Amino acid sequence: MSNTQWTEEQLCAITERNCNLLVAAAAGAGKTAVLVERIIRKITDEKEPVDIDKLLVVTFTNAAAAEMRERVGQAISKVLERDTGSGQMQRQLALLGKASITTIHSFCLEVIRGNFQNLDIDPDFRIADETESSLMKMEALNELFEEQYEKEDSQEFLELLECYGGNRDDQMLMDMVLNLYNFIQSSPWPRHWLDEMTESLHVPSGSDFSQTLWGQVLTDSVILELEGLKEMMAHGVQMLKKAAGLEKYLVVFNEDLLNIENLLRLFKDTSTQPLWDLMFHELQSLGFATLPRAS
Ligand SMILES: Nc1ncnc2c1ncn2[C@@H]1O[C@H](COP(=O)(O)OP(=O)(O)OP(=O)(O)O)[C@@H](O)[C@H]1O
Ligand SMILES: [Mg+2]
Repeated sequence: MSNTQWTEEQLCAITERNCNLLVAAAAGAGKTAVLVERIIRKITDEKEPVDIDKLLVVTFTNAAAAEMRERVGQAISKVLERDTGSGQMQRQLALLGKASITTIHSFCLEVIRGNFQNLDIDPDFRIADETESSLMKMEALNELFEEQYEKEDSQEFLELLECYGGNRDDQMLMDMVLNLYNFIQSSPWPRHWLDEMTESLHVPSGSDFSQTLWGQVLTDSVILELEGLKEMMAHGVQMLKKAAGLEKYLVVFNEDLLNIENLLRLFKDTSTQPLWDLMFHELQSLGFATLPRAS
C-alpha cells in the first residue's frame, strides 16, 4: 500500500504515536488498510524498528484475524520487493507466523494457558461448546433450586418464587436467573455489579420508596403516562365539542379530564406525603363515571 494516496484523516491515524486512538469509519472506508500501514511503518521505522511479534493485533473474528495476517504478510513482501537486502524485513516475514495477530478470544485463552498456575486452574482445561455449557448451567441451576427448597429457613426463596415463579413450575424464575447470569457476564465485575444493583433496590424501612432510584423511575413514568392521558382527554373533549350529537358525553369527558389534572397537580407537589403511598392510594380509589347510554 506504499503507493496509496492516504487521506489526511487516514494519515493521521497511521502516524499518530504515544496515545490511544479510536478509528471509526464506514464499511470499506479503509480501517484495516490504515491499521496494516500503521503496523508496517512501526516495523520499518528507521529509528525504533519494532519486531512484528512484539505487537498485539486483536480482531473479533477468525476471518478478520486471518485477513489481517495475510495483509501484513503481503505488505512486508512488498517492502522486500523494493529492498531485497533488508534483513529486518526478512526477519519480520519469518516472525509473522508466531506474531500475535489473533481474535480477542484466542488471545485471552493464550494468556490463561500461559498463567494457569497463577489462576489456580487445571492446565488441561478446555473450552466448553455452547451445548455443553448450557447443560452445565442448567445443572447448576437445578442444584441451586433444590438446595434452596431443602433449606430450613427458605422463607425468602419462597417469597421470590411466589412473586416471579409463574403458576405451574419454577421455570419462569429459573429463566430469569439464567438471563440475569448471562447478562452480568458482560460486566467486568459481575458480582460487584449485582451487589451494587441490590443495594440500589434496598428500601430502608419507613422510608419513601419514591425517593429511591427505581422508585423515582416508576413515579416519573406514572406522571408521564398521566400527562399523555391528559393530552388525549383534552383532544377528546375538543372533538366532542365539534361533533354534532356527541355533546352528551362532554360532562363525563370533562370530569375525567379534571380528575387527571387533579392527580397531576397532587403528584407534582412533592411537599405532600410520601409520593409512592399517595400514588398508590389515589390511583386505587380512582373511579370513572359511565358514559350516558345512546338514546
Ligand atoms: N486512501 C485510499 N486510497 C485508495 N484505496 C484505499 C484507500 N484506503 C483504503 N483503500 C482500499 O479500500 C479497500 C477497503 O479497505 P479496507 O478493507 O481497509 O476497509 P475497512 O474499513 O477495513 O473495511 P471493513 O469495514 O469491510 O473491514 C481496500 O482495497 C483498500 O486497499
Ligand atoms: Mg476491515
